[in-house]
Amino acid sequence: VPPLADNGPRLSIHEFRLISDFIAGCCGMVLGRDLRFVVERKLRERVAALSLASFGDYYHHLRYHPDRQAEVERAIDLLTTNETYFFRERPQLQAFARDVLPKLKEQAAPRKRLAIWSSGCSTGEEAYTLAIKITRSGLFDGWDVRIFGNDISRRVLQVARRGVYGPNSFRAMPPEYREHFIDTPEGLMVDPKIRGMCQFGHFNLLDTERAAMVGRVDAIFCRNVLIYFNDSARRRVIQSFYERLYPGGYLMLGHSESLLNASTAFELAHLSGDLAYRKPLGTPRGTTP
Ligand SMILES: C[S@@+](CC[C@H](N)C(=O)[O-])C[C@H]1O[C@@H](n2cnc3c(N)ncnc32)[C@H](O)[C@@H]1O
Repeated sequence: VPPLADNGPRLSIHEFRLISDFIAGCCGMVLGRDLRFVVERKLRERVAALSLASFGDYYHHLRYHPDRQAEVERAIDLLTTNETYFFRERPQLQAFARDVLPKLKEQAAPRKRLAIWSSGCSTGEEAYTLAIKITRSGLFDGWDVRIFGNDISRRVLQVARRGVYGPNSFRAMPPEYREHFIDTPEGLMVDPKIRGMCQFGHFNLLDTERAAMVGRVDAIFCRNVLIYFNDSARRRVIQSFYERLYPGGYLMLGHSESLLNASTAFELAHLSGDLAYRKPLGTPRGTTP
């Protein structure tokens, strides 16, 4: 149902198709037809800010303007969902700590280095949650532990790097984890020890060359990101995850997500109370699905 008429240009079906195809090509995100009025509402401020007359003009700006890159980032930022919080999907985190971390300790023992990638990390709560879980497991004391978060939005990464959060971020955090945060006038700040384990970088998951700079990792969390992607983008990102993982490394998706129709290269890992994907052990380096 179209919303009540408000000020500003309307987004026609044709303009919506142009913009949604363009955005899908940039970052993989699918904007279903039912989102036309949402897109209209979200991008209208940009059409006004650039003093453009229509969404058609905005599409041309995104495609052809010499400074288009900054505007593409703004549009993607306005259209993506950045919802996240500490200890999201707790049963999965518990299974990760109970079943996956001991396995990773065994596999990575010769390196004494553990690397985890929080892909599509948004404001960083997922990366910090993993750092807390790893620290509390006590399995990796004396190891070089790194958690790397990436996102396509520079705005959310600024929040992640700052590491200070309001009450909304803590809505699912059990009280015993409060000790990993310090009170500040602006909110709770992640303890510097946990903060020091995490790094954040800006890149698009579809840019697989940039993704290669993450190096090789023991586990990848990609939760609530690929659900917004089209099939070809999803396949491409999954393939780059496969290449980044050490043999025996784990891929943890969101609870409603699977690799169905995206890849057969991973094996299913049955964790207590949860499922994950695993790159088979003994996979030669560089092998692709
Ligand atoms: C809903 S949040 C999920 C955050 C966290 N993983 C969680 O589950 O709580 C999805 C994040 O993915 C990011 N994202 C979407 N498309 C992306 C892309 N192509 N490359 C990198 N990040 C992307 C969005 O900017 C957003 O911050």
